[in-house]
This record gives sequence, structure tokens and C-alpha cells, in this order.
Amino acid sequence: MSEQSRPRALTEPAQLRAWTDEARAAGRRIGLVPTMGNLHAGHLSLVAAARERADAVLVSIFVNPTQFGDGGDFDRYPRTVDADLAALADRADAVWLPSVEAMYPFGPGAATTVHVPGLTDVLEGAHRPGHFDGVASVVTRLFNQSRAEVAVFGEKDYQQLQVIRRMVADLSAPVEIVAAPTVREPDGLAMSSRNGFLDTEQRDRAGLIHRVLSAMAGAARAGTPLPAVEAEAMAALSSAGFESDYAVLRRADLSEPAGAGEAEVALVAARLGQTRLIDNLRI
Ligand code: PAF
Repeated sequence: MSEQSRPRALTEPAQLRAWTDEARAAGRRIGLVPTMGNLHAGHLSLVAAARERADAVLVSIFVNPTQFGDGGDFDRYPRTVDADLAALADRADAVWLPSVEAMYPFGPGAATTVHVPGLTDVLEGAHRPGHFDGVASVVTRLFNQSRAEVAVFGEKDYQQLQVIRRMVADLSAPVEIVAAPTVREPDGLAMSSRNGFLDTEQRDRAGLIHRVLSAMAGAARAGTPLPAVEAEAMAALSSAGFESDYAVLRRADLSEPAGAGEAEVALVAARLGQTRLIDNLRI
């Protein structure tokens, strides 16, 4: 791929400002795809969705320290900027690569935080305290910096998508949120940067998560009582060597359904060795 087709790499706030000024002056609609890099086909599908809705496509790559816990995940998150820029050639117009200082001028620990109550207390929020505050805060900054009119997020991170939608509604943020479907490997495993941490044997087993989700959706549709469906899913994961945080059925807004007919999404979070995988399936 030729060097010319690579997106413009913007590393300073002033460069991003100039790029957004230029796009806006030309009447171009800015579409943002926020990422933490280590791009795979799932990310590229988000970029394609942005391209369909915007004239100037900006991808941000920022490994956000405020959304990681203490487990060392931040340090071991893969940084692959060169490969990412190559993958975005002919797909994105610009890539925003801020430093931690550009994102958090007074330091990540002292930064103003956006908290979305309620929705962030359950599921991922319960297992990763503070995670969604970090996500909502950095995404707010990215919206403000990019002045995007549309932003695309993956359904793979279902709860994140709900948190961002709620935040945008609560704060009247002038940005349209678009959800893009999960991209899967042939065995159903949702594409994720974390899949790269799985060894060959774990990778072979990881497709079970999608099969479990499909079984949960099928059982809910058939009217099986929800506690039985959830218990069976946990047992199936456990007997295959997964350590599960949850395997649950919820309404689309993540509230608890009263009965099988009200379940709209199945969600699983499970660990294989050191690697924590999450996935979901709409019913
Ligand atoms: O989904 C992600 O990759 C991150 O949570 C996001 C939205 C880029 C914020 O850092």
C-alpha cells in the first residue's frame, strides 16, 4: 500500500484542531471511531461504518490509563501504531494519537471525571470498579476534541455502548452514536485485541463462549426459566475450564427481566487463564 494513502497522523492538539477546522470549513461531516489501537477486522468494520455516515473519518488511538484496573492490563495492552496506521490506509482520513499529557493536562489521577450512575454499577462495572468512569471521561474528551457529528462503537462491548448512549443523552452531547455489529472468527469467537493473549489451546476452547450465548438465547426464546438458563451457562463454561464472572440474560437496557419473554440480550464474561473475554448476543 502506498505511503500517500496512509491517514494523516495527528499527535498534537493543535494539529487535530487544524484538521477539524479544515473539515468543518469545507462542510464535511466528521465521523469518529475511538479505539485503543491494535486494530483488527472488528475495528475496521467500525471505520467502514463511519465512512458510510461521514465525509471526514477520524480514528483515535489512545490506550487510556484511567479505564484499567491495577492488574497490569494497561502495561501489557499491545501498542502497534505502525501496523495500525498501515491497516487504516485508504480507510481513515486522519488518526488522532494523543499523549497522556494531551488527554490529561493535569494528570490522569487529577482529571475531571464523567460518571454515569446505575448502569455502571452492574456486570462489567461491578467486576471492574472505575472502568466506565474512565471510558465515559475519555470518550467525552474525544468528542470535544474531535467535534465529531457521528461516532461509531462496537456492539461487542454492549454495556460500554449503553453507557455512552446514556451519557450522550444526559449531557445533550451533539453527536450521533452508531452501533456496529460484532465481527466474529469462523468459530464464533468475537474479535478482540485480547484474543492475542490466548495460547493455541485456549484459543481452540474460546469459541465455546459464543456457543453458550447461542444456547442461552435459544433457551430464553423457548421460555426456559431464566435462572436455569444462566446456571446451565455457568456450568458449561466452568466444565470447560473457564472462570466466569457472569452469564446472564437482561433486557436491552441491562435491567433484569421479569421472565424469559423479556430477555433481550445474553451476556458472558469469563476468564481463560489470565485472559478475560466478554461477549453478548441479542435475542
Ligand atoms: O472500546 C474501547 O476500545 C475503549 O473503551 C474506548 C471506547 C476507545 C475508550 O478508551
